[in-house]
This record gives sequence, structure tokens and C-alpha cells, in this order.
Amino acid sequence: MKITSAEFVMSNSNVAKCPNEPLPEYAFIGRSNVGKSSLINMLTGRKSLAKTSGRPGKTQLINHFKINGNWFLVDLPGYGYARVSKKDKRTFQKYITEYFEKRKQLVCGFVLIDVRHEPQPIDLEFMEWLGENQIPFSIIFTKADKIKPAELDKKVNDYLQQLLEGSWEEVPPYFVTSSSKNWGKDELLSYINDINQDFFKANS
Ligand code: GTP
Ligand code: MG
Repeated sequence: MKITSAEFVMSNSNVAKCPNEPLPEYAFIGRSNVGKSSLINMLTGRKSLAKTSGRPGKTQLINHFKINGNWFLVDLPGYGYARVSKKDKRTFQKYITEYFEKRKQLVCGFVLIDVRHEPQPIDLEFMEWLGENQIPFSIIFTKADKIKPAELDKKVNDYLQQLLEGSWEEVPPYFVTSSSKNWGKDELLSYINDINQDFFKANS
């Protein structure tokens, strides 16, 4: 799929006020600084469509970007930096969980994982929460350019293996990416295109 247009539509903390067109949308979620906004720029080929920063906590709202006039990419705030309740670790920012619970247009959540790191409890908890709520998701490993090619496969395989040893019976679809090197772009866009086609067929 070729991206011919990508436009910022709105920022919101209220799910009810997000765009109400019945178009398929894909949301990027993960810890702060993992590269969510950078990935949106990489996929769309627009350097500063989504705001990025070396300091965690840059994205603070639900941001909708309309792509090719008929689907949405959604940039969300990170969940590791902005407060997670100490009392109940499973409480993520309320409007993030609300977004995933209420957003009927969401066809796939992309959970971003920094490929350099060992599995982090907060990511595992979030994926478990998505699973319990039957929200479809895929994994995107980010920053693959930051480790040696020889280590990359092992890191990815170890991560997936740990999911299988935990509460998952099968691994979700996954992608290995680098926003600075454009790695994984074609694979992700083709995956999104397939889901879009199914969505449009089912809703025509
Ligand atoms: P928040 O909005 O704070 O939750 O962060 P975010 O997940 O949107 O991260 P962002 O895209 O702002 O990127 C954070 C930092 O990581 C920036 O300095 C990016 O340039 C850098 N970065 C993101 N993706 C990559 C990548 O694939 N490779 C490298 N080398 N750096 C990356
Ligand atoms: Mg961001």
C-alpha cells in the first residue's frame, strides 16, 4: 500500500469526542519513549507528522491521523512514564483503557516493545489486559537498529519464547522495525492493507 495522504485530525482526552466516521483504525501503545510517534512518521513518510522527543512523556493525548482519506493511525501517550497507580498496577491512564474498551473502529492495537529490553511487567500486563478484553493486537519490536544484527533474532525469539512460557498459548503477529532505517515499513503497511480490505468488505 502506498500512502498518498496523511493528515492530523484532532487531539483528545475524551474517547467520545474522537472522530466518529466508521473507518478502520490502528493505535500505537507502549511505554514512553519506545518510539510510537516515530513509527507513525516512518510509516507515513512524514518526518514530523507526530511529535517526537528524546524525553519520555511527549505524547499526552489521543491523536488521530487520517491516512489516504479512509483509515486512521492513532498515536497514544506512553504508559510507563505518566503515572500508573501504585495501589493497582493494572490501572493505566483511564482514557487509554477507555479508548481500547470503547473504540469500536479499532481493528488492531500495536503494542510497541523496545527490542533491546527484557520483557517488562507493564508491557506483559497490558497485553494480558488486552487479551482479557478480547481486543486484537500485534507486537511491534522497535529500535532494531540499536542492536547488532546477530543479536536481533535471538532477542526477538527470546521475547516470544517468554510470552509462551507465560500466559500465552500462541504468539500474536509481530514485526521488527526501525524508524530511523525504515525497517518493517512494507510489512506493516501490507498487514494494515489486508485488515483494511477485510474491514471494507465486511462493512460494504
Ligand atoms: P512518548 O510520546 O513520550 O510516549 O514516546 P514515543 O513512544 O512516542 O517515542 P518517540 O517516537 O517520541 O521516540 C522517542 C525517542 O526514540 C526519540 O528520540 C526517537 O528519535 C527515538 N527513536 C524512536 N524510534 C527509533 C528507532 O527505530 N531507532 C532509533 N535509533 N531511535 C528511535
Ligand atoms: Mg509519542
